Amino acid sequence: MKKQLQEIFKGFSKLTRQERLDSLVEVGALQQADVDYLAKGGLRDTTLGEKFIENVIGYFQMPLGVATNFRIDGKDFAIPMAVEETSIVAAVCKSAKWIRESGSITTEVVGSEIIGQIQIAKVKDFAIFEKQLLAQKNYMIEISNREVAFGLVRRGGGVRDIQVRRVPRGDGSDMAVVHVLMDPCDAMGANIMNQVCEYLKEPIEQFTGEKVTMCILSNLVDTKITRAVVHIKDIDPALAEKIEEASLFAQMDPYRAATNNKGVLNGIDPVLVATGNDWRAVEAGIHAYACRDGQYRSITKWYRDNGGLTGVFEAPLVVGTVGGVTTLHPTAMMCMKMLGTQSANELSRVIAAVGLVQNLGALKALTTVGIIEGHMKLHTKNLALGAGAEEREIPAVQKKLEEILTIRKRISLSNAIEVLKELRAGQASSTTQHPH
Ligand code: MEV
Repeated sequence: MKKQLQEIFKGFSKLTRQERLDSLVEVGALQQADVDYLAKGGLRDTTLGEKFIENVIGYFQMPLGVATNFRIDGKDFAIPMAVEETSIVAAVCKSAKWIRESGSITTEVVGSEIIGQIQIAKVKDFAIFEKQLLAQKNYMIEISNREVAFGLVRRGGGVRDIQVRRVPRGDGSDMAVVHVLMDPCDAMGANIMNQVCEYLKEPIEQFTGEKVTMCILSNLVDTKITRAVVHIKDIDPALAEKIEEASLFAQMDPYRAATNNKGVLNGIDPVLVATGNDWRAVEAGIHAYACRDGQYRSITKWYRDNGGLTGVFEAPLVVGTVGGVTTLHPTAMMCMKMLGTQSANELSRVIAAVGLVQNLGALKALTTVGIIEGHMKLHTKNLALGAGAEEREIPAVQKKLEEILTIRKRISLSNAIEVLKELRAGQASSTTQHPH
């Protein structure tokens, strides 16, 4: 019988890379062809870069890892993460394990429409403009769906609404901003939305006699919010209180909120990258949403709840599973297959969960052992490499650095250089004394 995902995740980090790949094949998360592809460095077509960007001179490699232990809405996932920062993957796996054993992750997407904006920089009379535009609203929705978004309409989506906003210019006059609300189904929707907005430019000018200045989608998609909720039962009350306090810090102080949210994005961005999604768009949306009440705040919240701890992530997290890089980049396609999400909404929910769980790991570390211990312990290998240690010397340098870390609570590259020097000096003298 085929093994379950969670069975292979026990001790996954201790396996060799080949063993990890073999076990992913064993559960059907990867195929043998994917393993061969990864063995060759994950590059099938060296001209691929030219298809995406301009002035290509090469490729920039990023490690690809797997986040284990996630059970989201009762379903297990092998989550791909493309990221360079040490300890992100280890930390998220550890926290996911904790939740799996003593809690749950539930998610939802609230709302389905993305937003496109059409700017009329200086409207003569906003009230008249609004009246003229809204009188043609249904017609404009109809022609947008018929002439531009017909593919989406076929899949159950399309333009749903057109709204008008008055934005004061600050000089006593008004700007009018038309919002186009569209359900993009499983696409991220940027291209189709921009096409709809540009298509509407001419009718808007005709109906209102005003001049359209520009059109573009908005990344502040507060019409489609992804929520992830983590609940942990039976947590040490002192720890729960500390995490609640850390969360309050991030809700009330923008300096802390920025770092807290960076930690959430430590979980989110790697999955976006691995699945070929536009991480800049998601980041922009999350940061804008984080200051929706005028102050930049945490996009996560943790509070004590019936003897347990509850965490909530809530922000726009618009991703696509069709179109764009997701269906063009072979590694993104492989990652999507491994992840096994069935829709853009499910992908968005999984990513939100990873961000929230990553945040929990950071808050737990910060309020207990501190970030240095966990972070730097894993960082010792990088320091050893940075100091110039060869593969065979790395374990010894790491061991010594960990000892220094325990005593002094910090380590740096100069410690690594010093340790390596001593190690080599020790080896040189023992070779001189006991030549083989
Ligand atoms: C480091 O990459 C992320 C943290 O700073 C996040 C946080 O402070 O919550 C540890």
